[in-house]
Amino acid sequence: MKDINNEKEKNYYHLDKQSFFYQNKTLEDTWVNKIIQGDNIDVLHALLTSPLIDQIKKNGGIKLIYIDPPFEVGTNHKMKIDIGNAKNHSIGFVAYTDNRGKEKFIEFMRERLVLMRELLSSDGSLYLHCDWRTSGWFRLLLDEIFGENNLINENIWSYKTGGISKRSFAKKHDTIFLYSKSTKYIFNQQLYKSWQKKKYNYSKKYPEYFDEKEGRWYHLAVCRDVWDDIYPIGTENKERLGYPSQKPESLLERIIKTSTNEGDIVADFFSGSGTTASVAERLCRKWILSDIGSKAINVSKNRILNILDDTFKEKINSFEVLNLTKNQSLGQNSFDFNVKTNIQDGKVSFELNDLVPNFDKLPIHEKEEINLNWSDWVDSWAIDCDLNLSSKSFVANWYSVRKKDDKSIDLKTNYFKYTLGKSKFGVVVTDILGNTVLKEIFL
Ligand SMILES: C[S@@+](CC[C@H](N)C(=O)[O-])C[C@H]1O[C@@H](n2cnc3c(N)ncnc32)[C@H](O)[C@@H]1O
Repeated sequence: MKDINNEKEKNYYHLDKQSFFYQNKTLEDTWVNKIIQGDNIDVLHALLTSPLIDQIKKNGGIKLIYIDPPFEVGTNHKMKIDIGNAKNHSIGFVAYTDNRGKEKFIEFMRERLVLMRELLSSDGSLYLHCDWRTSGWFRLLLDEIFGENNLINENIWSYKTGGISKRSFAKKHDTIFLYSKSTKYIFNQQLYKSWQKKKYNYSKKYPEYFDEKEGRWYHLAVCRDVWDDIYPIGTENKERLGYPSQKPESLLERIIKTSTNEGDIVADFFSGSGTTASVAERLCRKWILSDIGSKAINVSKNRILNILDDTFKEKINSFEVLNLTKNQSLGQNSFDFNVKTNIQDGKVSFELNDLVPNFDKLPIHEKEEINLNWSDWVDSWAIDCDLNLSSKSFVANWYSVRKKDDKSIDLKTNYFKYTLGKSKFGVVVTDILGNTVLKEIFL
């Protein structure tokens, strides 16, 4: 068992922490949402054994775990990364690997599912998203770990996109198992828009209405276990972030609304692009994400920052990014950067003026295509005006991040107050591959 807050284990687990606070930081008891980078086996152990578990319990425990593990497709999942402001330039990057083989995969999942069940609150639920490749294995595994009586639903998400085979029926559904930890689980019945030929005058409970745009009658019906009203993320979808296997927000919305109430904690330990947190944040739930990939962590971080920027609400909780990667500090040696300081009227501003990638350390492909301006490598950067490394904490008092629809980035900060000989600033830069590097600046 590893304790992420245990000093003795520091050499084994580095906890690099960047916190993005939107509320008064002095509220000690306030829940802070979490994005944790690391192998989820370590993250689960850490959550179960560190003081974080008390915080989780104080906040009602984890009511819902949704996971969408790799599907055992047998290949690596690549993604294209847009390069800063450089139009029509992108590079190929392996977002995650997916080729363990049956026995290893089952053992890999068994270990993790046991810990996830332990972490769930007694009235919690687990949703496991898979497809025909692994659904049979998972059914047996989940029956064993959760008990067959706790299988609530084998939900089918059916869709029409993607290729078809001439030698089989087109494989057009995913399976989403829903297991509860006990008989006392949260279940808020959901309604969906069901079309009908004409008006039937059903009961008032399920009102009928005519959709002018579609020219059809509909009524709101109780959700069945076959979901065919949720569209996958196609190339034109505005939610699309380019992360492989990104799931639609409407799917997570159904799941989160069904199995949690406002204020509950939702967790996703194979979180990819952060769909679960994005929906949880919108629906005023608390959340914990974790993923092993730096790109997944970065996409999720930017996704949440974009939501917070767009829809500042009073209820918003701050979030922090933790790193639980074994024997390495986040992004070390992946690149170097330079910052210039400008002093005026007793205040200081910072200007990012160079970033030099360390090509030998970058797991990228198609390197020969890369001929960029240094600033195109910058994905986001942030300033902590009072860096306190002993608390292993970086608080972003100022940041600039490329947005999905606006790729520009500010390379100069505002002016901040400082005290000569006393002020310690932190500058964190994240490159477009998701590597993060921190520098300290003393004034
Ligand atoms: C199918 S994707 C999840 C996609 C996600 N549902 C979304 O909407 O973007 C699976 C994710 O599991 C992550 N993963 C695989 N093995 C992991 C491990 N041992 N610990 C944490 N994350 C892992 C991969 O990096 C990948 O991002």
